[in-house]
Amino acid sequence: MSTYRAPRGTRDLLPAERPVWRHVADVARGLSEAYGYREIETPLFELTEVFERGVGAVTDIVEKELFRIQPRTDDAETWALRPEGTAGIVRAYIQHGMQTWPQPVKLTLLGPMFRYDRPQAGRYREFWQWDVEAIGDAGPAVDAEIVELGLRFYREAGLEDVEVRLNSIGDPGCRPAYVAELTAFYRRHEDALPPLERQRLESNPLRLLDSKDPALVHLNDDAPRITDRLCEACSEHFAEVMAHLDALGVEHRVEPSLVRGLDYYTRTTFEYYLRGREGHQQALGGGGRYDGLVELLGGKPTPGIGFALGLDRVVLALKETGAEVPTETPPIAVVVGADPGATAERLRVATDLRAEGIRVRADLAVRRLGRQLEAAAKEGARFAIILGDELADGHVQLRDLDAATQKVLAIDDLPALLLRKSQDG
Ligand code: HAM
Repeated sequence: MSTYRAPRGTRDLLPAERPVWRHVADVARGLSEAYGYREIETPLFELTEVFERGVGAVTDIVEKELFRIQPRTDDAETWALRPEGTAGIVRAYIQHGMQTWPQPVKLTLLGPMFRYDRPQAGRYREFWQWDVEAIGDAGPAVDAEIVELGLRFYREAGLEDVEVRLNSIGDPGCRPAYVAELTAFYRRHEDALPPLERQRLESNPLRLLDSKDPALVHLNDDAPRITDRLCEACSEHFAEVMAHLDALGVEHRVEPSLVRGLDYYTRTTFEYYLRGREGHQQALGGGGRYDGLVELLGGKPTPGIGFALGLDRVVLALKETGAEVPTETPPIAVVVGADPGATAERLRVATDLRAEGIRVRADLAVRRLGRQLEAAAKEGARFAIILGDELADGHVQLRDLDAATQKVLAIDDLPALLLRKSQDG
């Protein structure tokens, strides 16, 4: 029988790589608190309609990448695994009457998302996002605050050189005229469009702007720019976002082709990239304003803005850039014994030490002392606590595995000494 493997596009995160994940999550949680974002958890699956209406039916995420759950009966509700966090959070905002809470309601979620995408490095079918959402603030100051929060996260996580690309995609007032103009532009060049892009021209012409297809890269240089077509209110909002970023000393690059792949965006959109890796690189994170989404999902008209940062890509980038990242720390000591069978004794001593807050492992295998010591050294423990005849009068041998020295010690003196050594590092 062939052995089982994790499903394609998913992976097991093994113990050795967990410390870097924990570090990244700790930075996210610390910043969420510092910036006043409160934690929320939403289900890993929702009614499919939440995503179809929220993210948009004619988006890659819904059309191609949604993990739909097979309905159990004909009339059952249809569910899908969440491909992103925003739609579910906005659904919860409406469901729990959060519009009566003091506004804005600032929420954060860190968890797995699911997209049935073609797997490759940095693109998985199960991946993790840190999501923040500020619902009930029309900006523009909060837009700048959120953009800056993302940049701070990358810096504190250990990525020095992350840049933000910024755009405004207008609102339902000014965007339709722009989309019409853009469609007319592409129609004039229809012969040059690959089949997929020709289809998209019918369903979602904005997507052609950030197409990676080489045929479009040149064409797009001449395409009309949304930033030149914004109405006065959107244009003013965009200028104010940039003025607030300038006041914070946050560098940003305006990228008129940055339209994002989700339908709910209005006005401000942004993405984060490792600097100096131009071309078809993947975004480390992205977000934007969604002033119509609460209403679209059945709530009162309420503005909102947020981002989601892809933690898998952050972990990958930390590796690639050679950033210093935390590693697993071995226990400070292992309790071993001269009598292979005296496992109860080793377990008791280790249990007492743990009660004092010390990280120790007990060697519970029935094996020779030499083998126990070897295992302790291999694990990287600093000390071995050797139980032998001295235990009868309350003493043990403490072996320094680095220095290869050994001394007899009263068992009562162990906790203080080991605590001190743990803190010394
Ligand atoms: P998004 O651009 O679809 O936005 O995803 C945000 C980030 O999640 C991406 O920049 C990327 O780092 C990561 N990501 C997306 N798909 C994958 C994948 N298949 N594998 C690994 N990482 C991935 C959103 O999800 C919006 N909900 C962001 C938002 C929040 N907008 C407003 N509020």
